[in-house]
Amino acid sequence: MHEEAFDFDGAYGEGYEALARRVIPGYATLFPMIGALIDPDLPPRARVLVVGCGTGIELVTFKRIRPDLRLHGVDPADQMLELATRRVADAGLSDGISCQHGYTSDVPLSPRFDAATLINVLHFVPDDGGKAELMTDIAARLKPGGVFVFFDLHGSPGSEEHERYMPAWRRYWRIRGMTEAERSEFAERIRHGIHFATPERVVELARDAGFTRPRRFFQSLLYGGWTFRRAGA
Ligand SMILES: C[S@@+](CC[C@H](N)C(=O)[O-])C[C@H]1O[C@@H](n2cnc3c(N)ncnc32)[C@H](O)[C@@H]1O
Repeated sequence: MHEEAFDFDGAYGEGYEALARRVIPGYATLFPMIGALIDPDLPPRARVLVVGCGTGIELVTFKRIRPDLRLHGVDPADQMLELATRRVADAGLSDGISCQHGYTSDVPLSPRFDAATLINVLHFVPDDGGKAELMTDIAARLKPGGVFVFFDLHGSPGSEEHERYMPAWRRYWRIRGMTEAERSEFAERIRHGIHFATPERVVELARDAGFTRPRRFFQSLLYGGWTFRRAGA
């Protein structure tokens, strides 16, 4: 992760969720939509690994949709973990939700999880082996047939699609009330801290990590969402 561009232990992390609601088209509905999508695939009391749990929005949203779920969030940023832990406690949902400081590789390999999410995280990781390692670490912790939900900024800077959607996204920031200075600062962060992968590369990374059955469930400008299944079912 480019820590200067996106410092989740600093002011950026503190204001992250408010910013996400403003700049990610579809963010407010993303987590209920994913919950609705994977609900039938999760057995009773399913264990779900939430990688990069951030402010805890996924943890509380999924738990409200399915109170029987046992959710485990992991995040390397102290501040985000604190925000998530507090949010879960304030919601009265601590029973059945745990949070761990660290990376996916710090999560025990067993017992394996029934599902995992990786939402708005992989785009911070360079495609120099880091993206592959993270996907592989997740696959190693999922049961065969387990559901993997992936959502990220994607695309290929310079491509026709990117040239169309990037300016549209910047206009969206303006429509959502960001000042010109805020828009320039955010664009700089993206230029320095986001490692885009094309949709083909996303599917390739997932396949190489041991995932099958790619299904695209969402696109909003440069954001895209896929579900996969852990191979071996
Ligand atoms: C943009 S936030 C996303 C939080 C939440 N998933 C959401 O969509 O609102 C990214 C989170 O991923 C965490 N993160 C960054 N690199 C990570 C990695 N390699 N593994 C797990 N989490 C990571 C950050 O600390 C931050 O809390």
